[in-house]
Amino acid sequence: MHYFTYKNKKLYCEDVSVEQIAQAVGTPFYCYSYRTLTEHFIKLKRAFASIKPLICFSMKSNSNQAVLHSLIKKGAGLDIVSGGELFRGMKAGCNPRKIVYAGVGKTEKELADAIKRGVLLFNVESIQELETISRISRRYNITTQVSLRVNPDVKADTHEYITTAKAENKFGINIPIVEKICLKASSFSHVAIVGLHIHIGSQIVTAAPFIQAIKKVLAFMDTMKKQGIYFTYLNIGGGLGIVYKNETPQTAEEFAKRVIPMVRGRGYRIILEPGRFIAGNSGIFVTKVTYVKRGTKKDFLIVDGGMNDLIRPSLYNAYHEIYPVVQNKNRARSVFDVVGPICESGDFLAKERELPQFNAGELMALLGAGAYGFTMSSNYNSRPRVAEVLVKGKKFAVVRKRETYTDLVKGETIPSFVK
Ligand code: LLP
Repeated sequence: MHYFTYKNKKLYCEDVSVEQIAQAVGTPFYCYSYRTLTEHFIKLKRAFASIKPLICFSMKSNSNQAVLHSLIKKGAGLDIVSGGELFRGMKAGCNPRKIVYAGVGKTEKELADAIKRGVLLFNVESIQELETISRISRRYNITTQVSLRVNPDVKADTHEYITTAKAENKFGINIPIVEKICLKASSFSHVAIVGLHIHIGSQIVTAAPFIQAIKKVLAFMDTMKKQGIYFTYLNIGGGLGIVYKNETPQTAEEFAKRVIPMVRGRGYRIILEPGRFIAGNSGIFVTKVTYVKRGTKKDFLIVDGGMNDLIRPSLYNAYHEIYPVVQNKNRARSVFDVVGPICESGDFLAKERELPQFNAGELMALLGAGAYGFTMSSNYNSRPRVAEVLVKGKKFAVVRKRETYTDLVKGETIPSFVK
């Protein structure tokens, strides 16, 4: 579901023509639909309404201030993984009591900042981290609430780079160790272990691995209850898959229908931390064809956006649907690699894709680029990061300016000893 549709052969984001945005801001750029974004959040909220979970948007997927603010206004909390995300999240107006903080490598400084700010929960990933939180909290005479991230050792059928819950992954703590920690919780002064957390991977399109992991953790919580250890929170993570090509992911309602009966009546406050499900289909990446290069073995559409702007195809072989910004149904079609200007053979946005025969100067949109698009972009090849635009109805605004060449050298100096 999204609001990128054709009207009179022109691609629109809600009620604004994408071509018109390109004329105003230049290319390449990301364009987000407010309605698509917020409706996905609301869908999830409605599906789970009977158990009133806290839905913390995973801001690593999209951390633009306008995007965050739009979701926060609808009631979202945030799932963060760094001091930078804490800063961005709070600046966008998020109440720290709605922030959960995950990540295997939180530094002492990051922990201290977040403890002082009073985030709701830390999702703790190791005993050393727990000790560090305890030590810092003692310094401030605060008792910090934490959840332990359990590694449930389940296999999620997704790209190996984004699966997180197998025993060999770096994430989470194995159940026997979680049990030991809970049993000697009193030795960690100034921390209260109030919850458990799981996150099994990303872009998971079937319910089975989620259910398997939740079952495992609930069984463990039952065991702990028998030993007099009670939890307030159960964070079931993110990872819900979306449609990029022809996937048939579970809908929010289907997912909720499976999960709610498992957790209802147990008294846990449920936390969800989806990123892609909310932001993924709410954004497109718009790029312009610079050259059409006919090769002996392959034909290339060389575009002005590259792997530094949208790395998912290069990194995960990810598929993003391509729409011409202006449709021409009579145009002959052929097979192209869509490649960027970066000096790497891995710099492609699509491989062997049947497309209309684009001409130089024409625009294309890559769909499903609202999550892990801009946030994973870089300045590689000294390319300024692109603009981000948000559309709501007939209105649009640049919500992040295109970087300039001056931005590229910001903070750099030439020391006298090399002069
Ligand atoms: N919670 C935790 C602890 C996570 O590590 C993640 C994602 C999420 C929630 C949100 O997952 P989501 O609902 O968005 O699937 N760059 C990759 C995805 C990496 C996901 C990392 N963790 C991609 O472009 O596909």
